[in-house]
Amino acid sequence: MKVAVIGCGTIANAAHIPSYMNNPEAEIKYFCDIIPERAEAAVEKYGCGKAVVDYHDVLADPEVEAVSVCTPNNVHPTITIDALRAGKNVLCEKPAARTYKEALEMQKVQHETGKVLNIGVVNRFNDSVNLIKKYIDDGKLGDVYHVYASFRAHRSIPGLGGAFTTKEIAGGGALIDWGVHYLDIVMYCCGDPKVKTVTGEVFSKLGVDMKGYAYKDMWAGPPKYDGVYDVDDSVVGMIRTDGPVISLHGAWAQNIGVAEQSSATRPASACSTARTSRFTPRSTARSSSISRSSRCATISRMRSTRSSTASRPAKSCRRTSTRSSSLRR
Ligand SMILES: NC(=O)c1ccc[n+]([C@@H]2O[C@H](COP(=O)([O-])OP(=O)(O)OC[C@H]3O[C@@H](n4cnc5c(N)ncnc54)[C@H](O)[C@@H]3O)[C@@H](O)[C@H]2O)c1
Repeated sequence: MKVAVIGCGTIANAAHIPSYMNNPEAEIKYFCDIIPERAEAAVEKYGCGKAVVDYHDVLADPEVEAVSVCTPNNVHPTITIDALRAGKNVLCEKPAARTYKEALEMQKVQHETGKVLNIGVVNRFNDSVNLIKKYIDDGKLGDVYHVYASFRAHRSIPGLGGAFTTKEIAGGGALIDWGVHYLDIVMYCCGDPKVKTVTGEVFSKLGVDMKGYAYKDMWAGPPKYDGVYDVDDSVVGMIRTDGPVISLHGAWAQNIGVAEQSSATRPASACSTARTSRFTPRSTARSSSISRSSRCATISRMRSTRSSTASRPAKSCRRTSTRSSSLRR
C-alpha cells in the first residue's frame, strides 16, 4: 500500500514514519510539510518518497491509498476531510480536532465516504491497557463503579508560547493534549459507557506568566516568550456515565511536590525516559513510553467478596494501576 505522511515533525518521525518503514506492506510515496526542509530531510533520512509542500499534491495521486495526518490540531479537520473526499484512508493524530463540532464533521465525512478514519489514540493497542480491559470484561474486577484517572506533571508544559499553548492552533492545553488519551483508555476499557453529565474546571495558572515559569527542560521547546499562552495547564473533572463515574485529574504543570510529581518533570537525571519519550523513535505504538507516575485506576467492588468489601472505604477496594506500563501521551 502506498501511503503519505502529511506533517513531518516530531510525532511523524517518532512513530508514523518508523512504523511504515517497518511494515513490508507499506511504501511511503510522499513526505509533505509546509516547511520544505522538513519534507526534504525525511526523504534524505529514510531514503524513499518525494518531498512536497502542498498536501493537495498528495491527494491528487490515485496511487496513494492512505495518509497520516501529523500536523498541529488546527488543520486536522481540513486535511482529513479533504483526504477522505479524495478517497484516501486516514490515520489522523490526536486530538481529532480542536472542537467537538469539528470532530463531528470529520465523522460525518467518514460516514459519507466509507473510507477508514482512525484517530491516533494509540494506547488502545497497549498490552497493559488491553489486559485491564480483559480483566474488566471477564469480571475479574467485579463492579467497576469509579475510575480515578490522574495524569499530573509538575513541570511539563510543551513548547511554551508555541503551537501547543496557543488555543487557536491546539484548541486547548493539558486536557485536549494528554486528557484525550486517558479518557480514551477509560472509555475503551469500560465498554464505552454512555455519558450522562460532565462537570469540571480548567486552570491556566503556571504557564501564563511565561517568563516566571520555572523549567529545566521542555519538550516541543524551546520557549517562545513572544508567543501565546492561552490554554489550560491543569484540569479537574467528573464524568457521570451509565457505567462508572470517572474522575479526572490532569496537569501539564501543577505544584504537587516532589513525591507526587510525574517523572516527566523531575530533574534530568531522574526522568530521562519519560521526558525523551516524545522524541525517541519507536517502531510501533506498543513500545511507546509515558511518565511512570501517570496512572489510571479502576476502583471496583469485587464480586467474590462483595459483602465484605462493599462497606469498606475505597482504599480497601482493589485498585489496578497501569503505573508500570508504557502508555503514550
Ligand atoms: N499520539 C500521540 O501520543 C501524540 C504524540 C505527540 C503528538 N501528537 C499529535 O501530533 C500532532 C503533531 O504534533 P508534533 O509534536 O509532531 O508537532 P510538530 O510541530 O513537531 O510537527 C507538525 C508538523 O506539521 C507541519 N505542518 C503544519 N501545517 C501543515 C500543513 N498544512 N501541511 C503539511 N504540514 C503541515 C509543520 O510544519 C510541522 O513540521 C499534534 O496533533 C499532536 O497532538 C500525538
